[in-house]
Amino acid sequence: MSTKIEFISVVKDYLLYSKLPYGIKGIIFSPLKSFRALKANTFRVLNNVSFSIEEGEVVAIIGKNGAGKSTSLALTAGVMKPTSGEVKVNGRIAPMLELGGGFHFELTGRENIILNACLLGLKKRVIEERIDKIIEYSELQEFIDQPIRTYSSGMLARLGFSIITQLEPDIIIVDEVLAVGDRNFQEKCYKTIREFKEKGVTILLVSHNMSDVLALCDKVIWIENHIVKQIGTPEQIVPLYLES
Ligand SMILES: Nc1ncnc2c1ncn2[C@@H]1O[C@H](COP(=O)(O)OP(=O)(O)O)[C@@H](O)[C@H]1O
Ligand SMILES: [Mg+2]
Repeated sequence: MSTKIEFISVVKDYLLYSKLPYGIKGIIFSPLKSFRALKANTFRVLNNVSFSIEEGEVVAIIGKNGAGKSTSLALTAGVMKPTSGEVKVNGRIAPMLELGGGFHFELTGRENIILNACLLGLKKRVIEERIDKIIEYSELQEFIDQPIRTYSSGMLARLGFSIITQLEPDIIIVDEVLAVGDRNFQEKCYKTIREFKEKGVTILLVSHNMSDVLALCDKVIWIENHIVKQIGTPEQIVPLYLES
């Protein structure tokens, strides 16, 4: 069994640009001083985070809002780089990050499927073969040729997850997005996630629904105040988290 995802002492700082310390003038007349002050003005969203995820594991990251869960997924997906430390990923990822990421709101549902499937590496011929299955899974047939700016957040989540079902990934990462779908669609997504798990796909997800975490996951990574508070089985971690 191989390690699919590994975080080694990962630190992620966000620059807080809104507080430009010496204004535009400062940048022009004392750039070094301005730059140093700007760099001092950072927000540490992940502080020395380490964990590893093995092939075929289903892992949930849990924690309060703002803890750094989405940031961890974005680092895994490679859409951003850590400030220091290392993120190692071994395999092909199908990401479903925060809602609307990767979508173009003036394009129709169908066009967004094609665009995203392309970006995720499917060949044109394969997309043509699978697009009907994607649309059918989404249950959005009636709306599929409307621009997605008219979609609700639940419909966007359907569209995003439906694309993933027709990929052949080694790793799936899913942010909280499933929470916005209705319960029927959530059930369907979880069923699909289980099918991926049976095929040996590694799954990393963020969820606030502890019964889903208990039902679905092999391992839980609890992030609190930007550090890893605890890693363990759902049976160990969920009760502690709910108490806190
Ligand atoms: N691009 C960004 N620039 C600055 N701060 C950000 C950025 N993205 C997220 N943050 C801040 O980082 C913190 C953690 O964000 P996030 O990883 O989205 O948390 P979670 O998914 O656990 O709720 C939040 O306080 C958020 O405001
Ligand atoms: Mg988040």
